[in-house]
Amino acid sequence: MSDDLVLLERVSPSTAVLTVQRPEALNALNLDVLSALGGALLEVRRDDIRQLVVTGAGKAFVAGADIKAMRDLDREQATEFARRGQRVMHLLSTFPGVSIAAVNGYALGGGMELAMACDLIVADERAKFGQPEVKLGVIPGFGGTQRLSRLVGAMRARELIFTGRTFGAEEAVRLGLVLESVPAGTALERGRELAATIEAQGPMAIRWAKRACQLADELNIEVGLQEEAKFFGRCFDTTDQTEGMTAFVEKRAAQFTGA
Ligand code: CAA
Repeated sequence: MSDDLVLLERVSPSTAVLTVQRPEALNALNLDVLSALGGALLEVRRDDIRQLVVTGAGKAFVAGADIKAMRDLDREQATEFARRGQRVMHLLSTFPGVSIAAVNGYALGGGMELAMACDLIVADERAKFGQPEVKLGVIPGFGGTQRLSRLVGAMRARELIFTGRTFGAEEAVRLGLVLESVPAGTALERGRELAATIEAQGPMAIRWAKRACQLADELNIEVGLQEEAKFFGRCFDTTDQTEGMTAFVEKRAAQFTGA
């Protein structure tokens, strides 16, 4: 799919790259971009894409929600704008496959929130992260107050949100926000490499593993462990499990079908 504002390209049997492309505004998220992103994320689900790499065109990943579009909003319009953004981030975070943010440059405000809605984040060593909303007299509105705390802990999230400071890829790795900082210009390549490694595993297992890991944010450990055992059991309803274990016994590579 190619909408002017996003480009969705299938790059292997079950992997796609989704590029936000509004480089003249550093890919800032206005209503049109949010709507194009939402449409692409629905298409990804329909088309049985199992790995999605998200990136930005030009020198930015996404430099935030569109400040020019927000400036004159009233309270109700701003609430609705935040909800629109949150719905898109929710579509991404609940994508049943694996999403990987390949952060090629600025990931600020709504851009950092977009990256945090992904399962994994790899970042160009020159990338800049931050939730600078307080500098504009507002707070993060596309999930930042909730997802950042879960990723880096409550106190560090508060420091980053209260100061609005920007920070680089190395610090983002140290904080546990980013998986890897990679050489300049290689974030997308590394994102695709990770996607290829995941594509080779049992697809049903990846799906159940993601659901189980997500529950770690929501449930206490006893209930989470019960759910893990159920999901483990459900893997044994799949042909992927039979194939994966048979291939091990027969000393050959598994040929998974995702069934
Ligand atoms: N919204 C709208 N336009 C933006 C934008 C944004 N978030 N970020 C950049 N742009 C536009 C600039 O206005 C500029 O457009 P013009 O040429 O028409 O003036 C163009 O993109 C290029 O930007 P700069 O000239 O500023 O580029 P730079 O390299 O000098 O600076 C930057 C880059 C440091 C990222 C700077 O653009 C910047 O600070 N951007 C704003 C970052 C920000 O505050 N993001 C948070 C937004 S609020 C939010 O996201 C709320 C939420 O959680 C929902």
